Amino acid sequence: MHNNSYLELDPKAYKTNINFLRKHFRKEVLFSSVVKGNAYGHSIETFVEIALAENVHHFSVFDSQEARRVKAVVGDKATVMIMGWLNADEDLPWIIENGVEFFVFEKNRLISALAVAKNLAKKAIVHIEVETGMNRTGFNSIDLKWVQDFLKKHSDFIQFKGLCTHFAGAESIANYFRIKKQIDRYDEIYQQFCAKNLKPQQRHSACSAAAMMYPETQMDMVRIGIMQYGFWPSPEVLVNFYNTKRKNENPLKRVISWKSSVMSVKKVKRGEFVGYGTSFMADAQMKIACVPVGYAHGYGRSLSNVGRVLINGERCVVIGSINMNMMVIDVTLLDQIKRGDEVVLIGDQAEKQLSVSSFSDYSNLLNYELLTRLSADIPRIIK
Ligand SMILES: Cc1ncc(COP(=O)(O)O)c(C=O)c1O
Repeated sequence: MHNNSYLELDPKAYKTNINFLRKHFRKEVLFSSVVKGNAYGHSIETFVEIALAENVHHFSVFDSQEARRVKAVVGDKATVMIMGWLNADEDLPWIIENGVEFFVFEKNRLISALAVAKNLAKKAIVHIEVETGMNRTGFNSIDLKWVQDFLKKHSDFIQFKGLCTHFAGAESIANYFRIKKQIDRYDEIYQQFCAKNLKPQQRHSACSAAAMMYPETQMDMVRIGIMQYGFWPSPEVLVNFYNTKRKNENPLKRVISWKSSVMSVKKVKRGEFVGYGTSFMADAQMKIACVPVGYAHGYGRSLSNVGRVLINGERCVVIGSINMNMMVIDVTLLDQIKRGDEVVLIGDQAEKQLSVSSFSDYSNLLNYELLTRLSADIPRIIK
């Protein structure tokens, strides 16, 4: 564990977000909290505790390692669903034994699940993912008859819990027609399953953006990642929300803050370069502060010469390139600055704020990528 910075998680902010989302979605829709990517950088263990306290009882992960971590926190108090990778030999016995649910998008996985379920004399709980136009994972149309026959024949060992899909960029208006086509295609496939007497217990397709932009995608369950952490999937989704609500008030609160402290302060003469190479030259005598956070901790190199931090209640600029473990800040105008002063990399200080989305503006990285790059070795504490 590093002790040069820490991430603070605010349960009150989470409460605000979950209350807003629950109110916004149709009442009977089940909320699945997407905690893949180490809970979008928040840390699975710490974040899942916070979510459980708000009565979230469904968690979606990418792989079985993440499922094990969630399961260790929730025990039997919540459902865990794997949406992506699992190793049939190493993981399926544990998954089925523990009632963990999982996406199936390939014949092999369904065949392996049946073998393991028979062996354990326990049902495998599956969500059939169907291809509707994203062209990533999902059974193609040509395989659907095979899937349907298989589910009917082996219903003693395979529980057909969900029928699902994922949209190819619901956060961008540019994809409007593609998403609409996907929604129609999903409906057709759902009808096909029903016509064969295979009605799934849960229909689900929506991530944050889809659930907000195309309410019909909420179906029986929504799989919400980014918005529960207090971020919008894209500015378009936020603006669309403002336009439909006719007021410009962001109902979401950032759950995470990232804080460090000043490691050293010194002067630099006019005409000197700062840090590696020549990307920053002091054009006057200046004062600089070193902060012990760099790209090894998740503060991207693309923020060299553009990142901002808060020190002594003021916004200050990163100068020179971000190093592996350090960054340099221009603090010329801060008279009182001294070693040990708090540095906010994401979050609030005095009246000022630095959000992850403003990072993205500087660095062209999505919220998603910045968050999941936060090193797992940074301590997470609950506010
Ligand atoms: C299959 C699936 N469902 C849901 C989500 C959650 O997306 P978001 O964080 O945009 O809500 C993701 C994330 O990428 C995903 O891959």
